Amino acid sequence: MTINTPKLRIELYPTQVLKSKAKPIEINEEVRAVAARMIELMQGAEGIGLAAPQVGLSWRLFVAHVPPDPDLDPEDDVSELPVSCDSPQVFINPVITKFAGDLEPYDEGCLSLPGITGEVNRPAIVTMKATDLEGNEITLKATGLLARCWQHEIDHLDGVLILDKMTQMSRLKNRSRVKQMEKSARR
Ligand code: NI
Repeated sequence: MTINTPKLRIELYPTQVLKSKAKPIEINEEVRAVAARMIELMQGAEGIGLAAPQVGLSWRLFVAHVPPDPDLDPEDDVSELPVSCDSPQVFINPVITKFAGDLEPYDEGCLSLPGITGEVNRPAIVTMKATDLEGNEITLKATGLLARCWQHEIDHLDGVLILDKMTQMSRLKNRSRVKQMEKSARR
């Protein structure tokens, strides 16, 4: 193992790895150790998803845990598709194979962009194909926050951030904060 997993940290914009297209990976002990560390970092930061480029690794892997909304009465949940998951999940080499439903706006944040949220339009329903940590090929369908989270994390694997996708209004709102982050990185 060459990666010192306890040393992995959440990387902040505008570090280069966040803007790069990540490479497919094969599962091994190192990947499992990194995924475990990423879940720890995600939970520590109270995030619902974290992609490998966010810990400095240009790998096609992300972890996600979108817990059920405590304010939502399960009897009121009319969606037939999952909108949350009960435990942290790891997805390797994930691909969205189908987008469906209308484009829906939602105010998104990102652990690599502290202090920034912006409205991003995304399709409401997605089907995702990936490999799990045991090497099984899985196909999952989701909607709501879960579908949004998967799309956000897969964007990270392509070097795409919410800054690239947010509405013009949100871009304006965050302009000074983004400049501030770019400036502090140059110091
Ligand atoms: Ni993010």
